[in-house]
Amino acid sequence: TATVALVVAAGKGERLGSDGPKAFVVLGGRPMLRWSLEVLRATVDDVVVALPADTPFAADGVRTVPGGAERSHSVRNALAAAPAQAELVLVHDAARPLLTAAIVADCLAAMEDPSVDAAIAAAAVTDTVKEADRVDGQVRVAGTLDRSRLWAVQTPQVFRRSVLERVLAQPDAVLAAATDDASLVEAAGGTVVLVPSPRTNLKVTTPEDLQLAELLLTAREA
Ligand code: CTP
Ligand code: MG
Repeated sequence: TATVALVVAAGKGERLGSDGPKAFVVLGGRPMLRWSLEVLRATVDDVVVALPADTPFAADGVRTVPGGAERSHSVRNALAAAPAQAELVLVHDAARPLLTAAIVADCLAAMEDPSVDAAIAAAAVTDTVKEADRVDGQVRVAGTLDRSRLWAVQTPQVFRRSVLERVLAQPDAVLAAATDDASLVEAAGGTVVLVPSPRTNLKVTTPEDLQLAELLLTAREA
């Protein structure tokens, strides 16, 4: 089965507060985007990257498209540029530079079951998670969730192409409300399975995440 990876790299990185776009912040001596690209070029057939406006970027064997205003628009632009033969589509955030070939392989393997519409990387939650409401200047606990059923979702998220195309064709308001692509498939009644992945496949969101990613990459290279 032909596979394509869509790497979304078009975000601004406002919470990181970097000078330029987050995907180009230097991490372990190279732009963050390069780390996951290297893994994906070795594990899937084709790669499409959605880039921020006015950000020139070229890498061997990688197609590029302009990103959109919202993450889902960036995914949609990249999908439109995917080779026609690709039946499995892997979506990955450039903000997760600690991706490994093993994580990609595990997600693709989970798609071998024909009843599965999407297979997504996730780590079991280790913190106790409470729901709370802001009331009169306090944050009042409403309840505690059952941790044994909670998973923190990551990318990669792998989809059957027809399924991803269908959910991304929905109106912008529907797409904007979703914080990941798999939730659109869930809402459409599709079957989504979790693929256990290390917590180290973290998303660089804040300056502390960047420090942690740097430490983990350095430790890995050593
Ligand atoms: N992304 C994108 N297009 C957008 C918004 C986000 O391609 N319009 C990508 C980011 O580049 C990132 C991934 O989606 O790789 C996850 O988004 P997030 O971590 O929120 O990154 P940013 O949007 O860049 O960060 P922030 O929300 O802090 O501005
Ligand atoms: Mg964002």
